[in-house]
Amino acid sequence: MTAPDTRAAARRTLAVGVTGASGVIYAVRTIAALLEEGCHLEIVFSDYGRRLLVDELGPDAKVDRLLDLLTARYGDGVRRGTFALHANKDMGASIASGSHRCEAMVIVPCSMKTMAGVAHGLSRSLIERAADVMLKEHRRLVLVPRETPMSLPQLRNMVACAEAGAHILPAMPAFYQQPKTIEDLASFVAGKILNALGFEQRLFPAWTGE
Ligand SMILES: Cc1cc2nc3c(=O)[nH]c(=O)nc-3n(C[C@H](O)[C@H](O)[C@H](O)COP(=O)(O)O)c2cc1C
Repeated sequence: MTAPDTRAAARRTLAVGVTGASGVIYAVRTIAALLEEGCHLEIVFSDYGRRLLVDELGPDAKVDRLLDLLTARYGDGVRRGTFALHANKDMGASIASGSHRCEAMVIVPCSMKTMAGVAHGLSRSLIERAADVMLKEHRRLVLVPRETPMSLPQLRNMVACAEAGAHILPAMPAFYQQPKTIEDLASFVAGKILNALGFEQRLFPAWTGE
């Protein structure tokens, strides 16, 4: 019997799914912030998540150059954490099993299609399967939808996910912090996600009531 790896045990392990809703900047900011916290991340991009990464952040924003993208945008603090990338069709990846000690998952942004898949337990992809694992194991699952307006089926799917135990955290930046840049808007949503995952966040100042 081998001794437990206490370093790995001390590192919080979370899954991040990135799907093809607009707002991949929320994903990039969230991934960077979790890495700055020293987490290990199991990251999965859907095909449309990959496409939106390029469409919204430019031709150099490629999944296989994710660390370069993160350090260029947010600095070397992201190197405090580690990550592994998985193919969305790889149903044999670690996070497809409840026996893997991944403590929580966020899908950011979460497309209406993936929301529907999670709502109905379809597990058609690794992202959907990992989310299903979070629900069946009663672990934290944060879903960050971005769509407007919403149809009745989409609203019902969100309710179904919430009833199953997911946190619904719509990508809705606030303006009381007087954001100046798009990055400020992304930081607000990423900070909310970190709070929902149980972290103190330093991405925007908490409201003091004054
Ligand atoms: C440019 C672009 C923007 C999109 N924006 C959204 C969006 O904001 N919300 C959404 O639910 N779907 C959006 N879609 C549609 C999804 O990408 C599409 O339903 C896709 O099949 C989702 O698959 P996935 O969940 O596996 O990523 C967008 C698609 C494109 C090409």
